[in-house]
Amino acid sequence: LNCDVTSVLEAPSLADLRSRAPDCRECALWKPANRTVFGEGKAGARLMFVGEQPGDQEDLAGRPFVGPAGQLLGHCLDAAGIAREDAYVTNAVKHFRFVPRGPRRIHEKPGAEHIDACAPWLAAERHLVQPKVLVMLGASAAQAVLGRPVTISRERSQPIMLDDGSRGLVTTHPSYLLRVPEPAKARETERFIEDLKLAASWIA
Ligand code: URA
Repeated sequence: LNCDVTSVLEAPSLADLRSRAPDCRECALWKPANRTVFGEGKAGARLMFVGEQPGDQEDLAGRPFVGPAGQLLGHCLDAAGIAREDAYVTNAVKHFRFVPRGPRRIHEKPGAEHIDACAPWLAAERHLVQPKVLVMLGASAAQAVLGRPVTISRERSQPIMLDDGSRGLVTTHPSYLLRVPEPAKARETERFIEDLKLAASWIA
């Protein structure tokens, strides 16, 4: 097997790391999923975004944040003056967790066991990218990075010093913005954009 998770931290490059990920068997999510959705972006990107897990469309495309939540994220990044190509975008968990319902696949939150199983991959990405600022999108991402349960409303919008010296910021997940009804939606989206601007201001 090409994937000994204990050795992923020694991967010499993102390309090498990415090539090993599809062989990971540390949890059961690989089996029903179509694709391993690995992070995207360059080593040395100063800004890193961590989401929860790929959704239906990401699982089909093999790329993070290309579905509805990804499009909203893209719109908000534009509004905050951040070029997605300059950032590294990844997820806490690299496979889509779902329950089939007829022809549809319904998203199911990853459990702590999936987040923990995938942690070496995220750690290796952080090690190779070495971002200055790491934005955690939602509770699963925050749990993955901080290693403890996080209440977004309590910890968002403030700098959190991370173990590697980078600065972390916790904010909502864009899929939350898709679900929340108006008029809260507009207000929450504005708050999210403000958080993105704050994160960008820390890399300057
Ligand atoms: N939601 C996530 O957290 N990540 C994706 O890649 C897509 C949707």
